[in-house]
Amino acid sequence: MNVEDLLAVLSRWIHVGAAIALVGGTVFQRFVLAPSLAAIPETDRGPLREAVLARWRIFVHSGVALLLLSGAYNAMKGFVSHKGQGLYHGLLGTKIFVALAIFGVAVVLTGKSERAKTMRGRSGFWLSVLVVLATAVVCLSGVLRNLPAT
Ligand code: HEM
Repeated sequence: MNVEDLLAVLSRWIHVGAAIALVGGTVFQRFVLAPSLAAIPETDRGPLREAVLARWRIFVHSGVALLLLSGAYNAMKGFVSHKGQGLYHGLLGTKIFVALAIFGVAVVLTGKSERAKTMRGRSGFWLSVLVVLATAVVCLSGVLRNLPAT
């Protein structure tokens, strides 16, 4: 295995690992944490929400950074191996656009601004949006991975 192969494996581990942590964490919040919070008294929800948020924010920031770095590396390799393949480039462009939208929502949703607090007032809706968009990104990635190189 040469250095380039090693970097490709490392980048794949980082990319898939970060995607699993972020998408899994979002699904957990939408379908497990949110309904569980709704089942406990209102007075107990605030401190738990704040504790979860403080920890989850670290995952979001580092996950976004890792996905961007490893994604840029993957994309550089993909551009070369799929040179001139319109479908690959179109789907990759769409994937990156949707991923950036996800990052924007996820970062604002875990932020400290007034807008973040307003968004968290409708966290069920925004978490659903993230789950749907992330599912689309994972599906697009699966197609990209299986398009034959040119
Ligand atoms: C929500 C964020 C993201 C998720 C959930 C995600 C998920 C994935 C997954 C599951 C794969 C397949 C990995 C494999 O089978 O080895 C993949 C591959 C890839 N991702 Fe991402 N990704 C995200 C963001 C990004 C970003 C921001 C970029 C570019 C800057 C990017 C570029 C790529 C590329 C180029 C590939 C390889 C495609 C190929 O096989 O040719 N991804 N991604």
